[in-house]
Amino acid sequence: MELLLGQHVTPLLFLLTLGSGAVLKQSKDLEEAWGYVTVRSNASMFWWLYYANNPTKNFKELPLIMWLQGGPGASGCGYGNFEEIGPLDAELKPRNTTWLQAASILFVDNPVGTGFSYANDSKAFAKDLSTVSSDMLVLLKEFFRSKKEFQTIPFYIFSESYGGKMAAGIALELYKAIQSGSIECNFVGAALGDSWISPLDSVLSWGPYLYSISLLDDQGLVEVTAAAKEVMNAVNRRQYALATELWSATEEVIEQNTDDVNFYNILAKKSPDGKASKHKNISLIKLYQRHVEPLHKDSLSDLMNGPIRKKLKIIPDHVTWGGQSGEVFSNMAGDFMKPVIDIVDALLAAKVNVTIYNGQLDLIVDTMGQEAWVRKLKWPKLKQFNQQKWKALYVSPESTDTAAFHKSYENLAFYWILRAGHMVPSDQGEMALKMVRSVTQQKHW
Ligand SMILES: *[C@@H]1O[C@H](CO)[C@@H](O)[C@H](O)[C@H]1NC(C)=O
Ligand SMILES: *[C@@H]1O[C@H](CO)[C@@H](O)[C@H](O)[C@H]1NC(C)=O
Ligand SMILES: *[C@@H]1O[C@H](CO)[C@@H](O)[C@H](O)[C@H]1NC(C)=O
Ligand SMILES: *[C@@H]1O[C@H](CO)[C@@H](O)[C@H](O)[C@H]1NC(C)=O
Ligand SMILES: *[C@@H]1O[C@H](CO)[C@@H](O)[C@H](O)[C@H]1NC(C)=O
Repeated sequence: MELLLGQHVTPLLFLLTLGSGAVLKQSKDLEEAWGYVTVRSNASMFWWLYYANNPTKNFKELPLIMWLQGGPGASGCGYGNFEEIGPLDAELKPRNTTWLQAASILFVDNPVGTGFSYANDSKAFAKDLSTVSSDMLVLLKEFFRSKKEFQTIPFYIFSESYGGKMAAGIALELYKAIQSGSIECNFVGAALGDSWISPLDSVLSWGPYLYSISLLDDQGLVEVTAAAKEVMNAVNRRQYALATELWSATEEVIEQNTDDVNFYNILAKKSPDGKASKHKNISLIKLYQRHVEPLHKDSLSDLMNGPIRKKLKIIPDHVTWGGQSGEVFSNMAGDFMKPVIDIVDALLAAKVNVTIYNGQLDLIVDTMGQEAWVRKLKWPKLKQFNQQKWKALYVSPESTDTAAFHKSYENLAFYWILRAGHMVPSDQGEMALKMVRSVTQQKHW
């Protein structure tokens, strides 16, 4: 196994936030490491670790979180790191809601070909969740073998969008590997954010959701419902590649009827380049343009292929950040619409802690669709979970704005995040950080 490594300590003027909301300037070193792991022949994956950065706690007293981005083909090392939860934002300014205050973070560009990860052969891209999971297991085995100090630290996987589906698959494989003794790590739980667990339940909920918030009229609802039924028929016949195409067609019907609603946040302005390539009429290209390209905007791409690449030093010349994301996406097209509710059930049965969190303003993976698949769980404690009364959460004791609702029973928890779209940590950074502390048992409400 080839392992290429980088290690660095960056002096950083950090803006640390106190519980009261007061902001305090403090100088702290940012400790980080990164590297490549060859996970199969012609397939190499890039990871980037930041050690927790907390004024009073050593990283050994805080958990380790692996962050998985969606797409498939969107980069955690790029988007998740600089646009959502990492120590610096895309302008390289400190982010005061970085999750590093609560945990060490391991970003991994997965599947193979995403971000700085690469395939040397067009046949080396993953085509299904099982390859995605087994590739990640190779990486994690190498990571925990080479960073022994993390073997006993509580380990969580947090995810977003398609990353949630991958998180579920990877979590189950990781659980099995720990049981069989083939990997040493203290795995506790998976957190599924706006996650693509049951694609059909998401698609079927779009019409009612949009209608309920006046983004569809009666006629629009009829059209969206008809398009969604076509997706349902294809999924029921297990014609998954066709279902992916019909999914794209349903999005088109929604765009036509809503004057291009933003799929990631129904209250956000439509993206300026949303209509840029109307001449292209291939459903996969459209899907890629809607769901992967926005996470590779020019400014982020310039940052990753410019200063970041220079800093990392180990990115091979033939690799461009984001250069293979289209191939990553199209190779996974046959897997895209497959549900993984059964995998979530297996995790619950295995006593893995499962957290579901969802942004109220997300359309692509709206909350109604999540509740629909949760109702289908075979988990014997589901009834007790449902009988819990949800609790309102606030970002601070002084705040009077409800920031989220929360419910949990044994190893299942659900967070309804208010005023957030698909990218919860970008939209509601403080609430997201509070949730991380709560999920990892650092703070009780
Ligand atoms: C982070 O900074 C923003 C902008 O300066 C501020 O509005 C917000 O309250 C800060 N968050 C915290 C947790 O202090
Ligand atoms: C990919 O190809 C490059 C250039 O030929 C080579 O240096 C690298 O080791 C290869 N990586 C893998 C994983 O095959
Ligand atoms: C690796 O990629 C090269 C170049 O595409 C190809 O010739 C070779 O067969 C691949 N190796 C394996 C084991 O797939
Ligand atoms: C897209 O292609 C389909 C089939 O080739 C065609 O029926 C349809 O009119 C095209 N739509 C646009 C907007 O060009
Ligand atoms: C897993 O979740 C349960 C229920 O919330 C909690 O009691 C337990 O402490 C969690 N485990 C860890 C290690 O956080």
